Amino acid sequence: MTTVAIVYHSGYGHTEALAKAVAEGVKRGGATANIIKLESAAQDFTAALDAVSAADAVIFGSPTYMGDVSVPLRAFFEASSKVWFTQGWKDKLAAGFTVGATFGGNKDHTLTSMIVLSMQHGMLWSGPGVPNAQINRNSDAGANVPNRIGSALGVVTQADNAAADVTPPEGDREFARLHGERIAKLAAKLEA
Ligand SMILES: Cc1cc2nc3c(=O)[nH]c(=O)nc-3n(C[C@H](O)[C@H](O)[C@H](O)COP(=O)(O)O)c2cc1C
Repeated sequence: MTTVAIVYHSGYGHTEALAKAVAEGVKRGGATANIIKLESAAQDFTAALDAVSAADAVIFGSPTYMGDVSVPLRAFFEASSKVWFTQGWKDKLAAGFTVGATFGGNKDHTLTSMIVLSMQHGMLWSGPGVPNAQINRNSDAGANVPNRIGSALGVVTQADNAAADVTPPEGDREFARLHGERIAKLAAKLEA
């Protein structure tokens, strides 16, 4: 069966809520989701690296901290140089998601870091393929529709300064599900 690894770090739970939504989407797409939470930059990454190696696709998740991936994910990326030497992730499908407190917040830069890492490994990056929501500027419907911020590189979402069970909103979570579903289906196609 097609397996998708979801490798993420979350300081305060918002990225984790999205990781769960991505996993729901992966299941909706007919694949198995292997969720791997990174706890710290100082941890042993061996099991996480092996899980990615064993998967058909990988989806990276990170909060945007100071305009980039958080330190545990960056440390994981550096640890993946061990795999780079054997080109072990070459031709694997890769994707990503992030969240920030603002609508801009340099979140594209977080995804760009993930894309650069994926390209260094020779992986195949896929965006979500969800057209940006056509939202009337004066409407508050944005929170209920996928891709309200308009990202083509990956899943970009926004969380208020509140608990992760209420934010990011449902539209952002569905965006994450749609991306998980897409990656699961694309990975199965590549496998075939
Ligand atoms: C150290 C730090 C830096 C942050 N930098 C940004 C930023 O550059 N852009 C942004 O939109 N939000 C920024 N935020 C807000 C977080 O991205 C936001 O609270 C997010 O929901 C946190 O995700 P998490 O709960 O998974 O840790 C920052 C938060 C912290 C703690």
